[in-house]
Amino acid sequence: MEESDRERKERSAAQRWDARYAAAEEPLFGSEPNEYLRMVVARSDFRARSALCLADGDGRNAAWLAGQGMTVTALDVSAVATEKALNLDRVRGVTVERLTADLDTWSAAPDRSWEMVSLLYLQAASGTRLRALEQAAGLLAPGGWLVVEAFSKDQAAHRTMGPEDPDLLYSLTELHSATPGLEVVEALAGQVRLEEGRRHRGIAHVVRFAARRPD
Ligand SMILES: C[S@@+](CC[C@H](N)C(=O)[O-])C[C@H]1O[C@@H](n2cnc3c(N)ncnc32)[C@H](O)[C@@H]1O
Repeated sequence: MEESDRERKERSAAQRWDARYAAAEEPLFGSEPNEYLRMVVARSDFRARSALCLADGDGRNAAWLAGQGMTVTALDVSAVATEKALNLDRVRGVTVERLTADLDTWSAAPDRSWEMVSLLYLQAASGTRLRALEQAAGLLAPGGWLVVEAFSKDQAAHRTMGPEDPDLLYSLTELHSATPGLEVVEALAGQVRLEEGRRHRGIAHVVRFAARRPD
């Protein structure tokens, strides 16, 4: 069970996540990459060579993508997570451009684009989530992939993991409406067994969404 709504609203995202990462002795969501990210990267039609990992946390996904030979940029609001991620990069012998920034205010330089943008378990209020999705879609190079996984609204009825506040949970309707210019490859909502560190482990209700910018 995660923190209450009142606690969440009283502290900024950076403060809350810094405290969580500082208290964690192990990577918060494990050291293996997200399962859905691996599934998309393994597709026969996936050829992206550059990636932007939004809300990358302590680094497992960006470090793994860099290890696959991709040129990777990653961003997270938590400076503590970013420091841990840089350490992971050093241990793995990979280079990732890592930024500490808040998705509520961050904008990429106008000349930048990526062949894949991931948004994996950004647990934030709907305004932040929708801005991040719209930005992610706008930063895709032609043919580029948007990859999203997060707890769905159905997870609210199962107090096993994930945010308590339904505003932090995703729906396919939101994903479709935030990314109108993209061609949807997969849009799934359902039950999976997560194995993502100690916090995200067991049966969960999630959305999985992959979409491409037309060439
Ligand atoms: C559940 S964790 C997932 C981390 C990572 N994507 C993973 O799967 O390992 C959510 C992440 O979102 C980040 N985050 C929350 N609000 C954010 C914001 N407004 N801007 C940027 N990152 C944010 C947190 O710092 C945290 O690292």
